[in-house]
Amino acid sequence: MHLKNNILSVDYKGINIKNPIVIASGPAGNGEELSQTIDLSRIGMFTSKTVTMNRTDGNPPPRIVDVYGGIINSIGLQNPGFQSFMTETLPFLENLRIPVIVSLASNYAEELETMVKALDTRNIKFLEINFSCPNVDKGREPIGTDPNKIFHTVKKLKKLTKKNILIKFAPADAILELVQAAISAGAEGVVLSNCPKGMKIDINTMKPILKREFGGFAGPAIKPITLNQVYQVRKQFKDIMIIGTGGVINHEDALEYIMAGANLVGIGFGVMLDPFIPIQIIEQLEQWFKLRNLNYSSVFCKAQSL
Ligand SMILES: Cc1cc2nc3c(=O)[nH]c(=O)nc-3n(C[C@H](O)[C@H](O)[C@H](O)COP(=O)(O)O)c2cc1C
Repeated sequence: MHLKNNILSVDYKGINIKNPIVIASGPAGNGEELSQTIDLSRIGMFTSKTVTMNRTDGNPPPRIVDVYGGIINSIGLQNPGFQSFMTETLPFLENLRIPVIVSLASNYAEELETMVKALDTRNIKFLEINFSCPNVDKGREPIGTDPNKIFHTVKKLKKLTKKNILIKFAPADAILELVQAAISAGAEGVVLSNCPKGMKIDINTMKPILKREFGGFAGPAIKPITLNQVYQVRKQFKDIMIIGTGGVINHEDALEYIMAGANLVGIGFGVMLDPFIPIQIIEQLEQWFKLRNLNYSSVFCKAQSL
C-alpha cells in the first residue's frame, strides 16, 4: 500500500481513497437517503447493503432491539435481489465519485460465482463477501465458519474477477485460521468484523424479544471485541487490507483501529445514531493529525509493523 502526502488519503493499488472512513454494509442501505443528508463524496469508501441472488424479505419484526452500548438487529439481509440491484441500485453507487464496495452473500458458492462474474465489468473497486451474517439460516452450515469451504469458494471467485476481494467475518476464536484460508485462496483482505450474536429477554413474557431468539449486536459495546480481532489478525498478516469495523462513533475509536493495524475504518451503527458522524470523524481525524504534525500514513505504518 502506497500512501499520498495528504494527511488522510490512502492509495491502494492505484485506487485513491480520500480518507480511511468507510460506510459499512447495512445501516446506511445503498446510500440514497444518506446522500440527501451528507455529501457522500467526502467519505473514503461506501459499502452496499449486502445483496443476495434472490429477493429476501428479511426476518419478522421486531428487527431492532436497544441494549446498553448499541442495538441488536435481526434484519435478515432484506434486499430486492441481484437483478434488481444491478439495474436499480448499482448505477447510483457507480456514480458516487468515491470507490465503492459491493457486498454479496450466499451459502451457495455457485450463486456467489454468478454475482461476482456479472460485477466484473462494473465501476466498483472491491467485492466484499459477507460470510458472516448472523441473521440468516438456510438450513446449511455457513461457508464462513469452515476454512476448507472458505478456501475453495474464494479460490473459485478469484478466477472470475479482477476486482479486489475482501472477506467479512464475524468475531471468532479461530479467526486466524479463517483469515488464513481466505488469504491463501487469493483474497486481498478482510473486514473485521460483522456483528457478534446477541440476545435480549423480555422479563414480562420471559422469552427472547427477537423471533429468531438472537440477532447481530452492533455499537460501541462490541468495539473491544472487534478491535482485538483486528489487532490479532494484523500481527499475523502484515500486508493484507483490513477494514476494522465495530462500535466506531468518534475519531478516537477510529484512531484505535488504525493503531491496531486497520487500513480503513468502517462505520455501521454510528450512521444510525447520527448520519453526520462519518463527516465529523473525518474532520476530527484531520485535526488530530495536524495538531501532532502526524499523518494517517505514519500512524498506520507503525501499527502495521507491530
Ligand atoms: C441494522 C444493521 C444492518 C446490517 N446489515 C449488514 C449487511 O447487510 N451486511 C453486512 O455485511 N453487515 C451488516 N451489518 C453489520 C455492520 O456492517 C457492521 O459490521 C457491524 O454492525 C459492526 O459495526 P458497527 O458497530 O459500527 O455497527 C449490519 C448492522 C446493522 C446494525
